[in-house]
Amino acid sequence: MTEPLLLIDTAAGIRTLRINRPDKLNALNVEVIDALDAAFADAARDPDVRVVVLTGAGPKAFVAGADIAEMNALSPVQGRDFSLRGSRMMRRIEKLPKPVIAMINGYALGGGLELAMSCHLRIAADTAKVGQPEINLGLIPGFGGSQRLLRLCGRAATLELCLTGAPITAERAQQLGIVNRVVPAAELEAETGKLAAQLAAAAPLALRGLLDCVNIGGECGLEEGLEYESAQFGLMFATHDMREGTAAFLEKRKPTFTGT
Ligand code: COA
Repeated sequence: MTEPLLLIDTAAGIRTLRINRPDKLNALNVEVIDALDAAFADAARDPDVRVVVLTGAGPKAFVAGADIAEMNALSPVQGRDFSLRGSRMMRRIEKLPKPVIAMINGYALGGGLELAMSCHLRIAADTAKVGQPEINLGLIPGFGGSQRLLRLCGRAATLELCLTGAPITAERAQQLGIVNRVVPAAELEAETGKLAAQLAAAAPLALRGLLDCVNIGGECGLEEGLEYESAQFGLMFATHDMREGTAAFLEKRKPTFTGT
């Protein structure tokens, strides 16, 4: 039997999705893109999932990009459709109502960095390398790389990464604001597990409200963003978890959040 392209595991509210094409450095072909799309749709629906961790199988790569062999044969219309397919899947991740952590265990290049940037948090091994090398293939980023990099780290770094195609170290990526944290490779799983457990214990509806605020706020003016935040803030007062969180503080105990 052939191994699945996406390994899925759930424990203690944490769903781990591991892209499983290590012989091709977990390159994103259509099958992997569709498997990710379905897995994230399922994670959004499943009440047992509080947080998602996305990573790559094998010691070398998170994802080394879109599948170059598959792209080589595409027509312009197929190229556009391929871009839309990947982009829509990544937009689903970005708009997921639960936090998604990219655990960058190695190369995150091209579509791999684009995938990581569609996640809400990025934690990288100190051995990881990230970049947008499409220019070396006579291409440009096609899953949102030019747009998300611009929003994450500004024009200068975006143009440097995309125009030169040169990969950068995890440490430099952190300096530029592309990744949140860099940890020794041997500690990556444990550190990501701690972060995921912290988020899995938080109030799900507050996490969702916060994600919505940042998603909406990133795309509208300050005035509308502030209004939206106030509306979401008010909505929290309808939740059991807000009563529980504030009561637990006053009673000097740990809160238990139920997502209601
Ligand atoms: N698409 C398809 N296959 C890929 C791939 C990709 N993006 N990245 C790596 N692979 C495949 C290689 O073709 C090779 O397959 P093979 O063993 O059948 O020949 C296998 O994965 C291992 O890669 P290899 O290049 O031998 O590993 P390496 O350690 O020497 O180099 C990289 C690692 C990441 C530097 C190199 O694989 C690379 O540059 N990959 C492409 C990165 C890229 O341009 N991404 C953007 C795509 S839009």
